[in-house]
Amino acid sequence: MEVSWEELEGRCFSCNRCPLHKTRTNVVIGVGNRESDVLFVGEGPGYHEDMQGEPFVGAAGQLLDKMLAAINFDRKSIYIGNIVKCRPPNNRDPLPEEQKACIDHLRYQFLLIRPKIIVCLGRIAAQAIIKPDFRITKERGIWFEKKNCHIIATYHPSALLRDETKKRSTWEDMQAIRRKYDELKKNEMENEKNE
Ligand code: URA
Repeated sequence: MEVSWEELEGRCFSCNRCPLHKTRTNVVIGVGNRESDVLFVGEGPGYHEDMQGEPFVGAAGQLLDKMLAAINFDRKSIYIGNIVKCRPPNNRDPLPEEQKACIDHLRYQFLLIRPKIIVCLGRIAAQAIIKPDFRITKERGIWFEKKNCHIIATYHPSALLRDETKKRSTWEDMQAIRRKYDELKKNEMENEKNE
């Protein structure tokens, strides 16, 4: 199905598919490079994101920016979205029915961006995108493949703010993401040369 960014924005701004629409200030669709090969997906907007209409602008977002900078990415080179686009009250986890109601918006984003790599930030994103029984402590850092897209999960930056011991493995995951990106780019250039 063909869909445009304008259409997607229209659908999101007028969305009332779940009760979260009643308490939102802004719909938080996403930010970054719409043509990027890399899509980062978080859980859902928090207080600051709801106020500003942009994902990852609070404390977790500042840490995410540092994590990105450490592997030479920034908000202009990747795209950042969330599983749900409206803030769950009191920053609770989005409920399964809220995720289900919202996931089509992310599917359209995927169709528009066509990323080669998806990075799931935390358990909620990994369970929604990789598999429902995904275990973040056991399965982070492992590459999965779906629809020609390489998918990996790492800890959510909020988890790192709560528990510093998770930083080391997250750093390893971030380096793995950079290596995968460089490898895909190298293959792409070689294929172009041989055409
Ligand atoms: N946490 C998320 O998962 N997403 C945001 O946009 C902000 C914080």
